[in-house]
Amino acid sequence: ASSEGDDEFLRGRARASVTELVADHDPAVLDRMLGRIRYVSGDYREDAVYGALAGVLAGAERPLFYLAIPPSLFDDVVSGLDRCGVAAGGRVVVEKPFGRDAASARELNDVLHRSFDEDHIFRIDHYLGKESVENLLVFRFANSMLEPIWNRNHISSVQITMAEDFGVGSRGTFYESVGALRDVLQNHLLQIVALLGMEPPVGADAASLRDEKVKLLRQVRSLEPADLVRGQYRGYVDEEGVAGGSDVETYAAVRFEIDSWRWAGVPWLVRTGKDLAVSATEAIVTFSAPPRLLFTPPGAPEPGPNFLRFRLGKQDGVALHLQAKRPGEDLVPEPVDLEVNYADALGPREEAYQRLLDDAMDGDARRFGREDALDEQW
Ligand code: BG6
Repeated sequence: ASSEGDDEFLRGRARASVTELVADHDPAVLDRMLGRIRYVSGDYREDAVYGALAGVLAGAERPLFYLAIPPSLFDDVVSGLDRCGVAAGGRVVVEKPFGRDAASARELNDVLHRSFDEDHIFRIDHYLGKESVENLLVFRFANSMLEPIWNRNHISSVQITMAEDFGVGSRGTFYESVGALRDVLQNHLLQIVALLGMEPPVGADAASLRDEKVKLLRQVRSLEPADLVRGQYRGYVDEEGVAGGSDVETYAAVRFEIDSWRWAGVPWLVRTGKDLAVSATEAIVTFSAPPRLLFTPPGAPEPGPNFLRFRLGKQDGVALHLQAKRPGEDLVPEPVDLEVNYADALGPREEAYQRLLDDAMDGDARRFGREDALDEQW
């Protein structure tokens, strides 16, 4: 790290966190783990820090480097790791956003590939580690009733929303360099599009899953200016770290079209924003409306379309919106929901980062972005 500190400083922080969050931890295991924690600090642009790191890592067979650092430092850090000999046989985890556009993402790939094989590069998108997001695949392909209707003949639109009821807080400086499109739409929300839209993969291995995702992303038509709305919440420019006249967007809404036999003509409406009225991350798949037939008497409400609502954030679950008969003499539809809350039905799940860092240590790439997919996302 660039901040000064020593082993005891980091061990103290780790002990405090574990003690606070894991009530039933085993003190002997904790002590053993803390004994292995080492802290190396220094300037990432100087060789000394890599020499110290190589000393600490001597004998490590498969070190994993998790680069949660400003993108401007990637080049220095990756070449530093290479020069001191620890990159060979190691793996690297890179935080999002991966570049700022297609060109810078390719440059970043070149930097990484100089020192690491593609198999050893783990591009993080923590949405891929969310049980609720990964569930989209299982829900679609483990339930045979869905596949026959999962297409343009029966689906009229797909809406994906990630709304947050808080602003940028202390992350103003970072946010100024990204905005909503680069912060969450290019990555998290496109993952949801891919999982909801892709064809069934031939297997559950990393290559099969990622092949189908890339195929779907390639079918997404390039955006025109009229497909996009950008906005900014009131007060954003007064946030710490934000430039006075900033036109960085904190809200973005995009209309995607997917040019495929499955999806042509179905609008995919994807939107996200900070400082909105509520926090909610969800995907709504709306089916075609039924004909009115039975419900034509004057004043009778038209039956609304069925939809599936996947709740992907806190309180994740799924609801199927249906119409039932309103009690009484007339045939009047009344909407009802069949709901499942996954925590109640399935019990506790691990957090995304727990799963992803564990995967990276195991060398399991299924829940990480592949080079060609990132390129398509930009
Ligand atoms: C991060 C973004 O990647 O995802 C944040 O940088 C955003 O701006 C966060 O708030 C949302 O993650 P989650 O898991 O709370 O939906």
